[in-house]
Amino acid sequence: MRIIKIKMGIAFFLVLTLLSCSKDGGSSSSDPVIVLGTPFASNASSITDNSFTANWVVVPEAESYLIDVSTSNNFSNFVTGYNALEKTGTTAEVMGLSPGVSYFYRVRAKQGNEVTNNSNIITVTTTGNQPEDPTYLKVKANALPNPFYVGVAVKANQLTDGSSYDAVLKNEFSSITAEYEMKMNPISTGSGSYSWDAADKIVNYGNDNGINVHGHALVWHNAVPDWLSNFSGTDAEFALEVKKYITDVVTRYAGKIKSWDVVNEAVDDNGNMRSTIFLQKMGANYIKDCYQWARDAANAAGDTNLLLFYNDYATSTNIPKQNKMFTIVDDLMTSNLIDGVGFQMHNTYLSPTKEQIETDINRAVALGLKIHVSELDIQVNQNNDITYLTEERSLAQKEKYKEIVKIYNALPDANKYALTVWGFKDNESWIPYSTDLNHPGNDWPLLYDNKFELKEAHTGFLEGLD
Ligand code: XIL
Repeated sequence: MRIIKIKMGIAFFLVLTLLSCSKDGGSSSSDPVIVLGTPFASNASSITDNSFTANWVVVPEAESYLIDVSTSNNFSNFVTGYNALEKTGTTAEVMGLSPGVSYFYRVRAKQGNEVTNNSNIITVTTTGNQPEDPTYLKVKANALPNPFYVGVAVKANQLTDGSSYDAVLKNEFSSITAEYEMKMNPISTGSGSYSWDAADKIVNYGNDNGINVHGHALVWHNAVPDWLSNFSGTDAEFALEVKKYITDVVTRYAGKIKSWDVVNEAVDDNGNMRSTIFLQKMGANYIKDCYQWARDAANAAGDTNLLLFYNDYATSTNIPKQNKMFTIVDDLMTSNLIDGVGFQMHNTYLSPTKEQIETDINRAVALGLKIHVSELDIQVNQNNDITYLTEERSLAQKEKYKEIVKIYNALPDANKYALTVWGFKDNESWIPYSTDLNHPGNDWPLLYDNKFELKEAHTGFLEGLD
């Protein structure tokens, strides 16, 4: 009898087909070929605060099953006692768990020495509430006398229930910004036509989980869809398209998101108005127009609390740019069209200094505006002089994280809004090798490493909240 193991990716089944024949094609045997199918895990049952029952569908011919349980969907760890735990039935009681935590399980079937591939993965969240753990960023921030949102930039495909992003996000962050899926380019597919799926997913995720949603960004020269870049109508018609876009997007999410970056990066690095398609076609008043359209759309949709932000980068070190930004902000203030300023803070471990940051931010504080540190990341290899994250650089980065969190936390309560980190894991950051930034090599700018382990930077963030 020959046993052939066929690896089946998904389901369990048994094939009892007779295929066997001798090597020379001569006499055939009637031995069955037995396929040990990969098991199919089904939903957990009997879920309590500290246990659940894992279930799977029987695999004929299996003598036993091996079950893994982890708090990570890539099974980088195992719940004690549940690393290939052998069971003969089709259920396993998983015990000794914590309340309000998501667990993942999978099974393999076994027969003799044969072991199948892993089944599908089932996610199960124990009942009850997680104890408030002050080593989580948002838990510590929420416990401050003057709390603020701790935000993170997200992508729609990270927001699947039970994913490692989902778990980290729900534990650590109280606000989200779409890293790119709420920009004009992905949303606007033509005049009056839109692709909402990713943006909707992000907004709904925030709303469903009690997480603040910051909108980013209605108007940005780097995210203009081709149809609008190539627009052949008159300038007045171009302005109407921009108005329609702003109106439709703000209306769709009115009441669902708290704030929008209306215009992003309108100042160039020489401290002049950036020569964008919007400036060229709509004239110097375009910024005010965009804010007015956003405000009108929100009000018309019944959201009179929408916060309108202006967002830009490098204003702490580039003083002409800082000055120009505050000219724009002053102008918007005069028309009562702005509520806050977003300071992107794509910083390095060397720059800007504490004093430079404070001077910059305090100009917005003095105007009574909300402050959003909107895209924080801290490069450690901007000169391409290291090939891995050295301990020295890691500690320098930790200090810089701590410094900015301290600066933010010291702001008057009325000026606080959110401090948002631009992504989760180092290897998914936009910084390494970025052509936008002319970044010369690899980098490690965020709070979690490639394996989602906490970095010193994370400790620095926490210490900044002391
Ligand atoms: C970046 C994203 O991180 C990238 O994934 C995307 O491809 C380009 O945009 N300033 C901003 C952000 O306001 O929107 C940019 O985000 C980074 C610079």
